[in-house]
Amino acid sequence: MAQSLKALEIRAKNDIKKAKTLEELDGVFRVYLGKKGVLILLLKSLPRLKATARKQQGKTANALKEAIQELVQKRTQELQRKDTTRAEQGEWLDITIPGNKLERGHLHPLTQVQRKAQEIFRSMGFAVAEGPEVESEWYNFDALNMPPDHPAREMWDTFWLEEEKHSKNTKENFVLRTHTSPVQVRYMKEHTPPLRIIAPGRVFRYEATDARHQINFYQLEGLMVGKDISVAHFRAMIQEFYQKFFGKKIQVRLRPSYFPFTEPSFEVDMTCVVCGGKGCSSCGHGGFMEMMGAGMVHPNVFKVAGYNPKNWQGFAFGMGLDRLAMMKYKVEDIRLFYTKDLRFLQQF
Ligand code: PHE
Repeated sequence: MAQSLKALEIRAKNDIKKAKTLEELDGVFRVYLGKKGVLILLLKSLPRLKATARKQQGKTANALKEAIQELVQKRTQELQRKDTTRAEQGEWLDITIPGNKLERGHLHPLTQVQRKAQEIFRSMGFAVAEGPEVESEWYNFDALNMPPDHPAREMWDTFWLEEEKHSKNTKENFVLRTHTSPVQVRYMKEHTPPLRIIAPGRVFRYEATDARHQINFYQLEGLMVGKDISVAHFRAMIQEFYQKFFGKKIQVRLRPSYFPFTEPSFEVDMTCVVCGGKGCSSCGHGGFMEMMGAGMVHPNVFKVAGYNPKNWQGFAFGMGLDRLAMMKYKVEDIRLFYTKDLRFLQQF
């Protein structure tokens, strides 16, 4: 027995040393010290020996058991250390390498301009209203003081939609709205004054495109109605709007103009944001830029909406959002906003 214990010791030590992985080592451990391990079985057989032999063999066998446990533990640590160094070498990370830049999208410049304008008008107490892009002839023209034979209809080159017959006698024509002004009437028919609203949206014109014209573009309509709303209110409000929008001091100029749905009517100019009013090629050396049409709501429009023109007065305006964006970003061709060219769009 003493002989075989000695041999066992040598074999065990050798096996432990040779184990190259933690799994192999576990196998070795089980061979000697597992439930049915050689040494365990040997220890179990001790009671069958005579007292003196048992004492001696027991001592040696237990010492060997402890020695093996200790060796296995040491070898385990060695192998674990090797594992981590290998993993560390494999997964080595250079934290000085510049990271990958994530491409972030953003809103279209026209959307940004529309939202900014909305935000400013909201801060001045205007609510946002909407109307349909396919509009009836009646809302687009008649309701705005332009009966069928009115020459002012020629002011807008119109996309007419095919006639649609609703019943035997009534025939309703539809257009792609040429302006956002029909929303004025739609809103007034549904609400009682006083009121202030803006109505941003897409409009359509049947005309050739060039650097300043597009068959569809964006307008922002404004309407304020009250007991004593005057041109002075309009002037102060719109100047405040431009100053907030462009973040600088701006002068506003009103020139007499004509629209069938306002009386009096104006063309609104503002200080050229490129030269600050000194005169440059952008403003045709006049120092001012033409920004929109406006005026005091015509009594006939109030009548159509069911308001008594003796009790109410107000101003209306319609600004081109594309024009606003062109000024803000100094873009010279309106068509660029509709190209979907990323080289252009990524600049905003
Ligand atoms: N609707 C006019 C246009 O598109 C602009 C306008 C709006 C003028 C409101 C006066 C009042 O040309």
